[in-house]
Amino acid sequence: MKIQRVGVIGAGTMGNGIAHVFARSGYAVLLCDVAQRFLDRGLETIGKNLDREAAKGKITAADKSAVLGRIEPVLERKKLAGCDFVVEAATEKFDIKAEIFRDLDHICRPEIILASNTSSISMTKLAAITKRPDKIIGMHFFNPVPVMKLVEVIRGLATSDETFQAVRELALQLEKTPVEVNDAPGFVSNRVLMPLLNEAMFAVMEGVATAEAVDEVFKLGMAHPMGPLALADFIGLDVCLDIMRVMQDGLGDPKYRPCPLLIKMVDAGWLGRKSGRGFYKY
Ligand SMILES: NC(=O)c1ccc[n+]([C@@H]2O[C@H](COP(=O)([O-])OP(=O)(O)OC[C@H]3O[C@@H](n4cnc5c(N)ncnc54)[C@H](O)[C@@H]3O)[C@@H](O)[C@H]2O)c1
Repeated sequence: MKIQRVGVIGAGTMGNGIAHVFARSGYAVLLCDVAQRFLDRGLETIGKNLDREAAKGKITAADKSAVLGRIEPVLERKKLAGCDFVVEAATEKFDIKAEIFRDLDHICRPEIILASNTSSISMTKLAAITKRPDKIIGMHFFNPVPVMKLVEVIRGLATSDETFQAVRELALQLEKTPVEVNDAPGFVSNRVLMPLLNEAMFAVMEGVATAEAVDEVFKLGMAHPMGPLALADFIGLDVCLDIMRVMQDGLGDPKYRPCPLLIKMVDAGWLGRKSGRGFYKY
């Protein structure tokens, strides 16, 4: 089946980026969120990111309006019934994703592949909620989606080879590089990255060094383009905490204990860049 119409659930940091890259590659996109203000904010971000691409000469002004014209914002999820593929990028909470997958399983045609951009939640468990576990797969994009090349393609226990190949091909169509990973808490990227970010937070909490100093060490000593605390702010501190909790629950090792400072900052509503305050002020 040829994929032409794509549904994207969630218009936040990742959802708007995913809608952007699908529309840029010529797909018709239905972007769905729970409130108009989230859709408006998502579309505004896409517009700004397209302006940035135009300023760099990657696209023309006409391309910008064509890309935006291919994205239809929707509040009603049942409008996704006509989609040939759906990718979910809603908040990183199992209950939220479970409700979405249960509903999409009813709304979408049985042959349609349903993907999740989850950073850490079990694809096997999400698949088991549906009547099409062979057609459930992780399509894990990286932030900022229009720029980052990697897509971790996560195979749940029941994901079929056909589904995997279709999503691999889709990632290539988006000019991304798919990498095959089996389902496990945090997959590869966050299994390795999040404990680093969490440990950097412990270093700040224990007064080993300031956030700025920790980030300098990684930028200058390890040639990281961004220090771990600036990166945590960029990802979103709530997202980091959710991922640490999924790994703590799923892997059971105390080394995945979220840093108390991270918990406190999220409780305070300091979520990083998106809230204007995290380890840095924005
Ligand atoms: N932020 C990152 O760097 C990053 C990277 C890779 C993957 N992810 C994953 O992408 C997903 C989204 O993360 P984000 O950073 O974009 O979060 P975000 O908070 O920026 O956006 C989440 C969006 O989902 C919407 N939403 C919540 N419940 C919904 C529902 N029932 N139906 C439709 N929309 C709903 C919210 O209103 C919000 O607009 C998460 O699973 C996260 O783990 C995040």
